[in-house]
Amino acid sequence: MLNGEMGEAVAKAMKVVVKVAEALDASRLIRIEHAHISGVSYKNIGDSGLRLLKQMAELGARVSVPSTVNPAGMDLDRWREMGVSESFARKQLEIIVTLEKMGFKTTMTCTPYLYEKVKRGSQVAWAESNAVLYANSVCGLYTNREGGPLALMEAIVGRAPLVGYRLKENRAVTTIVDVSSIRKELDRLQLYPLLGYYIGLSVGQGVPLIVGLRAPLSVSNLKLMLAAIGTSGSLALVELRKTHTHEHAERITISSVKELLTHSPAELSDEGTVMMGCPHLSPGELTYIARIAAKYGKPRRRVVLFTARAAERYSPRAVNILKARGFEIYRDTCMVVSDLRSMGVDKVLVDSAKAAYYLLSQGYDVGMFLRKDLKEILYGGR
Ligand code: F3S
Repeated sequence: MLNGEMGEAVAKAMKVVVKVAEALDASRLIRIEHAHISGVSYKNIGDSGLRLLKQMAELGARVSVPSTVNPAGMDLDRWREMGVSESFARKQLEIIVTLEKMGFKTTMTCTPYLYEKVKRGSQVAWAESNAVLYANSVCGLYTNREGGPLALMEAIVGRAPLVGYRLKENRAVTTIVDVSSIRKELDRLQLYPLLGYYIGLSVGQGVPLIVGLRAPLSVSNLKLMLAAIGTSGSLALVELRKTHTHEHAERITISSVKELLTHSPAELSDEGTVMMGCPHLSPGELTYIARIAAKYGKPRRRVVLFTARAAERYSPRAVNILKARGFEIYRDTCMVVSDLRSMGVDKVLVDSAKAAYYLLSQGYDVGMFLRKDLKEILYGGR
């Protein structure tokens, strides 16, 4: 591959993978079974990113394993309703067409773990932190937090450097996070995004084992918690069940929910446009919101939901109920990688610590709400 016997694109991609492997002192490369790339939104990668993708496609680059992609900068069908300009849309569509030419499944969701079938124990190359945490911690897969361009090259050559979280010895627990004394409040107040954010901040690196959680957590709580962990820390794996622990594992005890609230990326609030779907709403979450909407009707404020095309296909009834009650639903994109200002939004109210963090960094006025308050946030009554 490196010598160009399989074409120029493969040689180029392999050169990158080998360089990274050398820089990280990897003993060898390992075959991967699946890849998921980030850096799909034109807002994030701009012209230089598009140029790289086109160059690779023109050289004949093709993925060698099943490969999926993260959200783009707009809903591919309803971008005009999002206020997206013609020039942005043209570039975004070019990115998508180029990815398809290379053989990517343009799923445009950051929740590939809900739709892709990959055997437990497989090595994969995923480049979206919430998906990486979910893959390692829940699906039994092996991946590092790959950078977007690296995952692209790995998708082409079907191999990745054997380092970091790909090695069993680096997956032993290094920190025990004990939440047993706040278990009831965690559950009653649905504080999982804030718990995740706090764990990411206080553990930073390694592998935490969370003890005292009410088990099993729902998929939506897991998603929100793991996405938050990936935002405030560089972790890629969290143990949720008792397992092999490092002899010298340190212990962090969280004894009050106040600790979580004071470290929240944004204050709890009930003002602003409600945005949900970071990570993308699952079919189950759409159904849950639709059930509330079916009972109470049109919400008293603007509500924008982000999800995957696949989720819409699994729950068409929920989508119809939500649309009929004035909820805006967009697929293929999310609140962070699209431009909310072009949608006329400045003040945002989110239930995701990850979204809060990134939207604050983009200069938006951000408040957070807890899922348990969803009905009140949508319809008042608090
Ligand atoms: Fe997904 Fe966008 Fe959040 S890619 S995890 S919804 S920032």
